[in-house]
Amino acid sequence: MIELRPVMDSDLLYLDTLHDDDEYAFFAVDHRPTEKQLQCQITESLLPTVDFRIVNDASTGEAVGWIRADLDLYNGLAQLGYGFARAYWGQGYATAAVRALVDALFGRNDIHKVWARVDPRNDRSMRVLHRAGFRLEGTQESHLLRRGERVSRALFGLTRARWSERT
Ligand SMILES: CC(C)(COP(=O)(O)OP(=O)(O)OC[C@H]1O[C@@H](n2cnc3c(N)ncnc32)[C@H](O)[C@@H]1OP(=O)(O)O)[C@@H](O)C(=O)NCCC(=O)NCCS
Repeated sequence: MIELRPVMDSDLLYLDTLHDDDEYAFFAVDHRPTEKQLQCQITESLLPTVDFRIVNDASTGEAVGWIRADLDLYNGLAQLGYGFARAYWGQGYATAAVRALVDALFGRNDIHKVWARVDPRNDRSMRVLHRAGFRLEGTQESHLLRRGERVSRALFGLTRARWSERT
């Protein structure tokens, strides 16, 4: 259904265009990234601590979204982030992409746990994580400043041990 491929310089326009949708942007970003910031994010994907992929529909080859893991290799942690164009919501692409990247991360021998930080109002994203086997570990209340407002963050985690029980 999906395939993950490395992000490329030519994806910059695609990644930028996603922010035209306010509903996408509300939970995806604090401020719309500039072209330079997007280019930095793409360039960072060459680092051994970043795994940034474009998610394609495998049957059409069309990009449906992106997914990224930022690795803390000392602690064996991978933090997930993802975003999908609204036209592709509600079809299981995000859940499939999270499962695929989690499998790839645990396929390495240096990752102990995958985790994500979500706005507790972002029900869709929390359902994705639950479906992929993540557990709610707690909430950081009134934690980050977003668009002048204090917002909470729900912490989700999936340990290698629990992932291997499921597979
Ligand atoms: C968060 C986000 C990725 C979730 O997208 P989504 O479309 O809800 O997630 P999925 O692609 O996994 O689709 C799951 C839904 O499709 C349904 N579905 C339909 N066909 C399906 C299939 N073949 N397989 C699996 N699920 C399917 C599921 O039942 C589910 O619906 P539900 O959540 O109402 O139960 C998306 O809303 C988004 O990009 N938001 C903006 C950015 C953002 O919030 N990023 C995350 C920051 S933490």
